[in-house]
Amino acid sequence: MGQRQCCGVRVWFFLALGTARGDERDRHVCGPLSFELDGVVHYLSATRMEAPHAAAAFARRVGPTFFGGGCAAGDTRCVAEALVADLLAACGDDEVETRIAPMGGSEYEWWFAEQDDTGRGTMKVRHYLDAYERHFALARARARAGRRVALLELGVQSGGSLDMWRAVLGPSAEIHGVDVDPRCARSHDPAAGTFVWIGDAGNATFLAHVLAAAAPLDVVLDDASHRSEDMIAAFEALYPSVRPDGGVYAIEDVVTNYWPYYDRVRAEDGLSFVEFAKRKVDELNAWNSEPRVRGARRDRCLTPPLRHRRNGDSHRHGGAPVTDFTRNTSSLHFYDGIVFFEKRPHPMWTRIAVGTDTLDYAFNMNSGTAGEAGMGTVT
Ligand SMILES: *[C@@H]1O[C@H](CO)[C@@H](O)[C@H](O)[C@H]1NC(C)=O
Ligand SMILES: *[C@@H]1O[C@H](CO)[C@@H](O)[C@H](O)[C@H]1NC(C)=O
Repeated sequence: MGQRQCCGVRVWFFLALGTARGDERDRHVCGPLSFELDGVVHYLSATRMEAPHAAAAFARRVGPTFFGGGCAAGDTRCVAEALVADLLAACGDDEVETRIAPMGGSEYEWWFAEQDDTGRGTMKVRHYLDAYERHFALARARARAGRRVALLELGVQSGGSLDMWRAVLGPSAEIHGVDVDPRCARSHDPAAGTFVWIGDAGNATFLAHVLAAAAPLDVVLDDASHRSEDMIAAFEALYPSVRPDGGVYAIEDVVTNYWPYYDRVRAEDGLSFVEFAKRKVDELNAWNSEPRVRGARRDRCLTPPLRHRRNGDSHRHGGAPVTDFTRNTSSLHFYDGIVFFEKRPHPMWTRIAVGTDTLDYAFNMNSGTAGEAGMGTVT
C-alpha cells in the first residue's frame, strides 16, 4: 500500500467546536471534508470524492480501509473519524496534521474558528467568508508573495475584521480602515501596517488624504453605513483607485436595500445600491449595445439600444454607453447581501473557435428585427 507515502497529507475535518456561545457553529459540525494532497485541496463527502482521480490518488496513499469504511451515507463525522484513524495508523500522529475546521474550510472560517472570543469583535454573514476567499484570492496570493497589497475597509467599528484581514493576508499587507467613530483609532497600528483613518468617506478632502496614502487599492470592502446613498457615493469616489489588474470592490450588507425601515434608496433618484449595481451590468455589457460592433453592416448600425439611448431610455432597454467602467471592469458578482466588482482591462470581446465540422445555428442570427447587430454579423 506504500502507506508511508501518505505522510504529509493534511486532513481538515469537522467536529463540534464547543463554543461558549453555543451559536450556529455547533450546528455545522457535519460539513464537507477536505484534504490537501500535493498542494491541491480536495473535498469529499461521506459518499463520494469530488473527483475520481483524486479518490484514486488518495486511496493509494491511505489504503482502502477508509473507502470501505461502513459509515452511513451523509455521516461526515463518521467518515472524518475513520479517515483520521486510518491516517494515524498509517503515518503516526506526528506526521499527519489534522485541524478542527469549520464549514467550508476557508481561511476566513479558520480565523473565526481559532479566535478565543476575547479579542476585538467582528461579525460577518457566514457565506460572505467563502465569497472573500474566492474574490480576494489574488490579493491574498500577491500579499503572500510579498508584493504590495492594500485593502481598504469602510467601517471599522470594533476592529476585529482588521485583525482578520491581517491574519489572512499576512504581515506584508497594508490594511486601511475608515470610520467616523474616533474610538476606532484604537486599532491604528502603523508599525504593523494597519492604518485607521477617522473621518467621513463622503468628505472628498478627507478621502483624498486617505487615498494619497493607500492607493492603488487591491481590495475595497464597503461595510460602513449600508445606506444606498453612501454606498453609491463611496463606489463612485473609490472605484477609480482600485487597481486595474485584478483589483476588487465589494459592497457588503446590501440586504439593507430590502429593509423598509432603512435608508434603502438614494434620495435624489430613488435608486438603491442593488439597482445601481444592476445598471452596472448593462454598462458591463455596453460593448454589445455599441453601433460600431466590428463588422456590423452599415445599415444595421443604428441599433435599437442607440435609438433608445438618444431617447434617454437606454437602461430600460438594456443598452448603455461604453464608459471607463465598461473598459475597466471584467465582472460583477451578486450574492445574497454582497456584491463584488472585479477590475481588469475589458476591451470589446473577440472570439475563439476551432473545427471545420460545424452545424449552422438553428435560427438565423441576422434575421432579427431591423437593426439588431446579431452574433453572426460580428467578424
Ligand atoms: C473634511 O475633511 C477635512 C480633512 O480631514 C477636514 O479638515 C474637514 O473639516 C472635513 N469637512 C467636514 C465638513 O467635516
Ligand atoms: C479606467 O482605466 C483608465 C486607464 O487605466 C483610467 O485612466 C481610469 O481612471 C479608469 N477608470 C476607472 C473608473 O477605474
